[in-house]
This record gives sequence, C-alpha cells and structure tokens, in this order.
Amino acid sequence: MSSMRLPVALSSLLFASLAISLGGCDSHAANPSPDASKAAPAQAASASPQAQSRSQVFAAVKQMTAVGEKIFFDPSLSGSGKLACASCHNPYHAFGPSNGLSVQLGGSDMHRPGFRAVPSLRYLQAVPAFTEHFHDSDDEGDESVDAGPTGGLTWDGRVDHGADQARIPLLSSFEMGSTPAKIAAAVKAAPYADDFRRAFGANVFDSDDKTFAAVLRALEAFEQVPQKFYPYTSKFDAYLAGKTKLTDAELHGLELFNDEKKGNCAACHISQRAKDGTPPQFSDFGLIAVGVPRNRALPVNKDPRYHDLGACGPERTDLKGRDEFCGLFRTPSLRNVALRKTFFHNGIYHSLEDVVRFYVERDTNPEKFYPVSKGVVQKFDDLPKRYWSNVNTEPPFDRKRGEQPALDEAEIRDVVAFLGTLTDGYQVPAQTPAKSAAN
Ligand code: HEC
Ligand code: HEC
Repeated sequence: MSSMRLPVALSSLLFASLAISLGGCDSHAANPSPDASKAAPAQAASASPQAQSRSQVFAAVKQMTAVGEKIFFDPSLSGSGKLACASCHNPYHAFGPSNGLSVQLGGSDMHRPGFRAVPSLRYLQAVPAFTEHFHDSDDEGDESVDAGPTGGLTWDGRVDHGADQARIPLLSSFEMGSTPAKIAAAVKAAPYADDFRRAFGANVFDSDDKTFAAVLRALEAFEQVPQKFYPYTSKFDAYLAGKTKLTDAELHGLELFNDEKKGNCAACHISQRAKDGTPPQFSDFGLIAVGVPRNRALPVNKDPRYHDLGACGPERTDLKGRDEFCGLFRTPSLRNVALRKTFFHNGIYHSLEDVVRFYVERDTNPEKFYPVSKGVVQKFDDLPKRYWSNVNTEPPFDRKRGEQPALDEAEIRDVVAFLGTLTDGYQVPAQTPAKSAAN
C-alpha cells in the first residue's frame, strides 16, 4: 500500500501551499485584519517560509481540506445562490448525481441544461495527468507499449488538477454561473471566513483573484480525503481481502467481465490489483471512442450540426483539428457505478442492463441503438463519418451484424450483479469466527 502512484494533484497542492505562504511576504496589508492575532500554525509559518517544515505544510493542507469541504457544500458561491458542488456531486451517490436526469440544470435561473452527464468524484486520485502517449509498466509488463491518450480530468481529460477543474463549474454559465468577485464576497461573508483566513493567511482576502485561487485549492484539497473519495470499502474489496464471498451470479459476472472472449470489460476497466498492490480502479483511464449513440433528448443536440466530440472539441480546445482524438472520452472507473441512474458521457442510458446490452449488441443488432432511416441503420450517429475509424472494434465490439452477441441476457444480468459489488460502504457480514472465541 505504501507505494501507491503519487497523486499528481496532491504534490502540486503542497507546492501551492508553499507558494501562497511565500506570496504572503511581499504583500503590505492595507487593512490589518483584527483576526490576524488568531494566527494558527499554518499562518504563523507564512511569516518565515524558509522554515516551513513538512509537518507545517501538512497542517496547512489539513486546514485547507476542512474549509474546502465547507465550500463544496456552500450554494452561496453560485450565481443563483442555489447550486453547490454537492448539488450535482451528491456524497450519498459517490459524489455523482442523485437524480436520473441525463444532464443537470444550472445557471442563474437554474434552468440552463448542461451537455454532459455528471461523473462520480470518487477514485479520481488515481487518474494520471493527460498524455497523448501513455506508457505503464503495469501494461503487460512492458513499458514500451503505447496505450495511447490517457488521463486528465473531465470526460475529455482537458484539465489535470482539481483546482483547475473547479474553476469550470464555478464560472460556467450553465452550472454555478459565478464570478471571482462574487465568490470572494460569498466566502468573506461565510460562517467559515475565519477558518479560510487561517488556512490561507491573513492576506487571502486582499484581492478577489487571490481569494478565488485559494477557493480552488481548498476544493482540490477536499477532493483528496481518502475516507470520502477513495475508501475502497466495496464488497469486491472485501472479497479481494478474503473477508467475504461473492454470490454465484456475482462470481459468474466477474468471470464474464474478465473473459477476453466474452465481456472483455477488464481490457479497459481493469479489475486486478496493480503490481504495487494498489486495489483495482476499474479503469485504465484511456480515452476511447465506443460510439455512444446521440442523445436526442439533450437540448444541445437540437442543433444537428452540434457534436460533442470529446477530446477534439468543441469543449476541449488544445486538440482541435486532431482527427484521431475525435469521439474519444475517458474510460470512467466502474466503482460505485450501480449508484448511478445515468450512464455514458451524454447520459443516454438509464440502466446498467442497457449499457451492457449496448456493448454486446452494438455490432450484432445496431438497429436496437441507432436510428433507422429508410431501412438503413445510422450507426455511430453522434460521430461524423470521417471519424469512424476511431471507434473501438476490440471484443465485444468485434462482431458483425446478425452474429451471436458476446453475452446473452442471463449473462448480462450476471455482469450487472457483479457491477453491484463495486459499491462502497459494504458491511462484512458478522460471522461466527472459525478459529477461536478467545479474542
Ligand atoms: C450543474 C452540475 C454541476 C455542478 C454544480 C458541479 N459539477 Fe462537477 N461536473 C459536472 C459535469 C457535467 C462534469 C463533467 C464535465 C465534462 O466532462 O466536461 C463534472 C466534472 C467534475 C470533475 C471531474 C470528474 C472526472 O471524472 O474527471 C470534478 C473534479 C468536479 N466536477 C468537481 C466539481 C466541483 C469542485 C464543483 C463545485 C465547485 C462542481 N464540480 C460543481 C457537473 C457539475
Ligand atoms: C475498449 C475499452 C472499453 C471496454 C472493452 C469496455 N468499456 Fe466500458 N467504458 C469505456 C469508455 C471509454 C466509457 C465512456 C464512454 C462514453 O461515455 O463515451 C465506458 C463507460 C462504461 C460505463 C458507463 C459508466 C458511467 O459512469 O457512465 C459502464 C457501466 C461500462 N463502461 C461498463 C462496461 C462493461 C460492463 C464492459 C464489458 C461488457 C465494458 N464497459 C467494456 C471503455 C470500455
């Protein structure tokens, strides 16, 4: 366990906290705050940054984390005053949405629809920074294998750190619809304003930009609390630890999930521990095109010319014009997937059975998923034809129309039963200990 992959975001956070402390030196406090006397260790440390020890840095991170949690649940930062991060990322649903809407509503009037499904915020600590060419020693033991575009946050991998990500919903006109000035005013007026000042230093309210930057760092810090964001408390984790058994259906589902000739799900949603013993994340974080059908229920899709092409845009801009990235979305972890009511980047499906059916029948029975016009199936209807070569054709996507699907209905049910073992919060059933009652 000690050698988990270094969480990129956390290391940046530690440096960021040092940078804030350093920044504190050159500021001439125009309005000496009465609260300055309440200086806590983290703030005291900012007086002499050279002397800041690791433990002081960790104390500062702890304070940022506590205040980050409060911000995460605070709707007063939003333009409408009604939307918090937690409104879309509900802690009782693994920080995913609690309702079954394909996309959530937000903006100043709370009526503006988004264009993508809300992902869970759990297990993001394992997502590597985005790279076009990923080499992993865990991949068949050969680091020379190029696994292709991998990593980054959001469905298209366009940001690498929680702080950069948090800026997106806070400022988005269809999400929290706020501004740095409004956010700074809300934090100054919040019951946790003093805690915020203690965590980031007396001068954090000197400018709106400074306050806003600190809000983003606090949110990033909160998103890395292990117990809340990567607890590894699912039934499957208990099973891997030898503490519980899977039912026959769950076990059969796991076999089908792993079997290269059946579901082949584990090819992308990795189900085995990493070499260093890290529990499986159920994703290799690769960006892949699976040809999800167009969700015609989304308002944004009323415009037939609009296509959410994932990594090549239009939302993500740095890979614009790079055709090989069109239609690619980051493979999500399947941990806690059974808590969701909306699946895939455009939220088109609302049951796990439908998702698994899509995988195994996309190519054998495409008419079930795509519109049929004049007897012709409009396969991959959310992707312009010139990008079709990007669509994945590995098993179970390796069949032809009319062939036998890789899984039958009973097998689909078992895979779904297995996916249910990935939900956190499993209580290992009390058992009469087999050994002795002496302890
Ligand atoms: C209106 C709903 C909504 C609100 C409010 C919201 N989010 Fe999100 N969040 C989303 C959606 C939708 C995505 C996917 C965005 C994309 O792929 O472009 C997302 C993605 C994310 C991700 C990346 C997840 C991943 O799988 O890579 C993080 C982290 C995140 N949000 C954190 C936050 C934080 C922090 C806040 C509050 C400042 C917040 N969100 C507020 C809807 C919301
Ligand atoms: C070639 C890689 C690959 C394989 C194989 C694969 N998946 Fe996926 N999976 C993805 C990608 C990429 C997405 C996101 C696609 C999107 O939204 O555009 C995804 C999304 C999902 C989702 C939706 C999760 C969510 O939060 O919305 C589920 C459920 C899922 N996969 C289950 C499975 C199962 C079950 C199998 C085996 C039958 C499987 N996957 C095989 C890459 C893969």
